[in-house]
This record gives sequence, C-alpha cells and structure tokens, in this order.
Amino acid sequence: MTILVTGGAGYVGSHCVAALLERGHRVVVFDNLRQGHRAAVRPQAEFIQGDLADRAALAWLFAGHRFDAVLHFAALSLVGESMRDPHTYLHDNVVNAMNLVQAMVRAGVGKIVLSSTAALFGTPETIPIAEDAAIDPGNPYGESKFMIERLLHWADRCHGVRSACLRYFNAAGAHPDGTLGEDHNPETHLIPLVLDAAAGRRPHIEIFGDDYSTPDGTCVRDYVHVCDLADAHLLALDVLAERSCRYNLGNGRGYSVREVVETAERVTGLRIPVRMGARRPGDPPVLVASSERIKAELGWQPRFPDLESMVRTAWEWRRRHPDGFRGAAAALAAE
Ligand code: UFG
Repeated sequence: MTILVTGGAGYVGSHCVAALLERGHRVVVFDNLRQGHRAAVRPQAEFIQGDLADRAALAWLFAGHRFDAVLHFAALSLVGESMRDPHTYLHDNVVNAMNLVQAMVRAGVGKIVLSSTAALFGTPETIPIAEDAAIDPGNPYGESKFMIERLLHWADRCHGVRSACLRYFNAAGAHPDGTLGEDHNPETHLIPLVLDAAAGRRPHIEIFGDDYSTPDGTCVRDYVHVCDLADAHLLALDVLAERSCRYNLGNGRGYSVREVVETAERVTGLRIPVRMGARRPGDPPVLVASSERIKAELGWQPRFPDLESMVRTAWEWRRRHPDGFRGAAAALAAE
C-alpha cells in the first residue's frame, strides 16, 4: 500500500513509518517540522514539509499521489500546554483534521488511522478503562481528539471513510535498533526528563504532586512501548478493509511517578535527584487501559510490556544520541 503519514517526523509517527517500511509499504511523510525532526524519517520514505492548515498544499499532495490509507499523527499533544492555551488546541487540532479528511474525501481515500488518546476519559470511575467507558475529557487536548473522533464518525456515516481511533495511554521507549527515540523541545514527558536527570543534564526531576488518592500519592499511568503502538497501527490498517474501530492501547498495569523514577535508577544504575512540586493542572490521578478488545479482536500482543524494557530502550537511545536528532543530523551532515 501507499500510506500518507501526517506527523511522521514525530515520536510515535516516526516509529510507525519505520514499521510500515519494514512491512514493505510505500510511505509519504507530511510534517511541518515544528515538533518533528527530518532526521527521524527513514530515508526510504518520501518526505514533504507542509502544514495541514494549508489546504492548497493538501490538494497538491493528494493530486500528486494515490494513497490507499492515511495515518494521522500531526497534532499539538501536550496536556499542560492545552490547559494554558485551550483555543489553539481545539482550533488547530480539529481544523487541521477536518482539512485532511475533506482532502481524503475529495481524492476518494477511504481509510484513516487516528492517533487518539487516553485523555478522552478524564478522571474515569472504573479502572482499567475499556473502550465503552464514559468520555469526559479533563483537558482541551483530550477534547480536541474527541472532536476528531466524532468528525471521523460522520466521515464514515456520510462518506464511507473508515477509521481506526487508537487511544494511546502513555507512549514510552525507543526503537530497539537505537536509531529512533523521543526528542521533544521543550521536553515535558516524564521518562525522558527522568533519564536526563540521571545523566546529569538536569539537576533533578520534579514530581507534580504527591497528594493524589493513589498508593504513594503520585499519579499513576499505563506506559506502552512505542513499537507496540506501531504494531497496533499495522493491525488497524488491515481491519479497515472491513470496518471502522476504536481501541484502547496500554498494558493494563499502572506505575506511579515514583515507581518510574525507581525503575530508571535500577536500569541506569544512577541516583536520580527528586524534588516535590505542585500538581500540574489537567492531570488525572490514574489512567490505566484495558486493551482486551484489541488483543481479542486483532491479536495485538505487546512485545515490550514491562516498564523496564521501555526505560531501557529509552536510555539506550539517550546514551547514543545525547542531543537527540540534532546530534543525528549533525553526524549525517559531517559524513
Ligand atoms: N510528571 C511529573 N514530572 C514531570 C513530568 C511529568 O511528575 O516533570 C508526571 C505527570 O504529572 C503525569 C506523569 O508524570 O502524572 C506522566 O506525565 P507525561 O507528561 O509524561 O504524560 P501525560 O500523562 O501528561 O500525557 C501523555 C501524553 C498525552 C496523552 C496521555 C494519556 O503526552 O498525549 O499521556 O495518558 F494524552
């Protein structure tokens, strides 16, 4: 198949591009490089720098290629930032998705996999969270993804565009070959920040609140390896030949912020200085997935279900690329 990957230069997107190429698909990456990195895109993929807000660029993109399906990652994706700037999140994420879906409909492309999120569920009453749990986003980021899920529902009803909404819990880890990993600027995610503190690149890790109603008072999250997410995208692409679907993707096991720090100390063999801070607005206390549905229906089986493998692969990436893709790009340029 020929697959369009929006946001394919980003963290989850670049791992999915690698998985698609390994499967023998042709891949076209469309990314504005505001968050993503050119060096994160495997050279076998075609790369086009562009923005989903630019409808003329999208018309040109679809006129020049015959896509069988789209994987849509490009979006603003930070919970904390979305609480400070809700309207940009709601506007940009939803309007860009709408532009994309309209371009798909015009070009007769009928399959899309959406990078959706556990942030749809707000503060859920029942843990683990299954697909039919009540939707009640606790932050504008989650709300924007919910609006896109609804947009896709109507694209299916009115235009027959099939969609797979994959609600990731906390994406973590890095490609085991050491060439791809997490590199945000600024970095806000727990595991890379903890590893930076281990490496002495930050003085400490600040824990955002220890007064939650959880066993050790810190927030509990369900971490899922980025390569396992990529595998789920490949399975979802296959199922779109028959129907639309929605799946929650996690490992069904929560780890507190403190447990993440302890695991990182074990994996790195280094002491990680910790400081207690205030709660971060928009953070739910506990998010743990039930992924039984995708396991039963599509046979998804995580290859890296334990937190240690996620932290180990992330640490390996960090050690090989202390400056992230900036270092990788400089090394390429020097060759
Ligand atoms: N945390 C800290 N200190 C930090 C950074 C994070 O204590 O310096 C805590 C957060 O408060 C949270 C946990 O670590 O409890 C994980 O935080 P991340 O920022 O790594 O991830 P989030 O849970 O906020 O969000 C991630 C993705 C979202 C997705 C969500 C779904 O960024 O896109 O998982 O669970 F919606």
